[in-house]
Amino acid sequence: MSGSPTVPLLDLKPQYRALKAEIDAAIARVVESQQFILGPEVEALEKEIAAYCRVSHALGCSSGTDALLLALLALGVKEGDEVLCPAYTFFATAGSIARLGAKPVFADIDPATFNLDPESTRQVARGCKKLKAILPVHLFGQCAPMAELETIARELGVPIVEDAAQALGSEDTQGRRAGSVGKIGCLSFFPTKNLGAFGDAGMVIANDAALAERMSVLRVHGMKPKYYHQVVGLNARLDALQAAVLRVKLKHLDAWTGGRQANAARYDRAFAAADAKDGSTALATGGLPLRYPQRPTGKTRHIYNQYVIRVPAMLRDGLLQHLKARGIGTEIYYPVPLHLQECFAYLGQGQAALPHAEAAARETLALPIYPELSGTQLVHVAGSIVSFLRAANA
Ligand SMILES: Cc1ncc(COP(=O)(O)O)c(C=O)c1O
Repeated sequence: MSGSPTVPLLDLKPQYRALKAEIDAAIARVVESQQFILGPEVEALEKEIAAYCRVSHALGCSSGTDALLLALLALGVKEGDEVLCPAYTFFATAGSIARLGAKPVFADIDPATFNLDPESTRQVARGCKKLKAILPVHLFGQCAPMAELETIARELGVPIVEDAAQALGSEDTQGRRAGSVGKIGCLSFFPTKNLGAFGDAGMVIANDAALAERMSVLRVHGMKPKYYHQVVGLNARLDALQAAVLRVKLKHLDAWTGGRQANAARYDRAFAAADAKDGSTALATGGLPLRYPQRPTGKTRHIYNQYVIRVPAMLRDGLLQHLKARGIGTEIYYPVPLHLQECFAYLGQGQAALPHAEAAARETLALPIYPELSGTQLVHVAGSIVSFLRAANA
């Protein structure tokens, strides 16, 4: 369609252009210092992220995946243990459990939020014999129901590790920052995250000094003191160039979050005006066949790492193609729930085991939501979706 704006799912160039002078100076500072691994730049970022997440300890590491590995290792998760997590999330959540020889035990999600469902968690945990931890994910930037999950974890006597890879700065119903509620929180600074590095980067956060100390040793091959190893750890260090870039960007994170929230509210209004309902209503119940994300309630802070709509499965892929033809980038997060991934077939949870996770995989589509998205671009996206769904519904 000539004349229509092109709208990528994410465009990081405007962010870099706006901060170029500051970021280039920060990179030059590290290059000048010739100190590339850990060191003062990383320590400064750790302090800043700890303050931002309202925890006492933060440790930079090489990725969100390594953050999960460090957390599980520090809690003593090992071969034969079980760790409960949602079936609908990025692979790394469960991959890190399996990588340690432990068994991911999948629970279903709440269809309104895509987050771990407490009822399913309770039910699945009942069948566990060696449950070592619960690993909720704050998917798309919205906190999992932490108060309910804390009650369950307390009853079971197991710790919570939070996968906050998509949720830096989001808050739960009690206003607590993602990653600060459980024993350990895991962050990712993958470039497409709301705070993105110029490569792979991650962090573990905690309020427990002993656990933080254990993770800091595990991060460097289990080495303490130098060249003495009481445990076998990882090489999971954060490099100083990433930390320097992240420190510049962190100062702008709240403004960017405000931009994402404003864009989400604009989409919500456009879809509501076209007779769509929010995600708390089942898809089958009349109006435009689209559900936009459930609005945050109470003290909840949704940071909209992704803005994910739900449409009937039979229309989803056609809608994606229609938007692609109009120059609009979208993504399916995620097309296959984890219990149906080939590598987890050995766990024996087949089709229909976790119906909400399976329906989400068939019905969801992520739209452009980045802060620099213009009003014209957003109207083009929302209008293209509404016209397609109206025609399909006629
Ligand atoms: C929910 C979730 N967990 C874990 C990760 C892993 O993070 P990373 O890519 O930094 O290893 C990601 C991001 O990619 C994620 O979205």
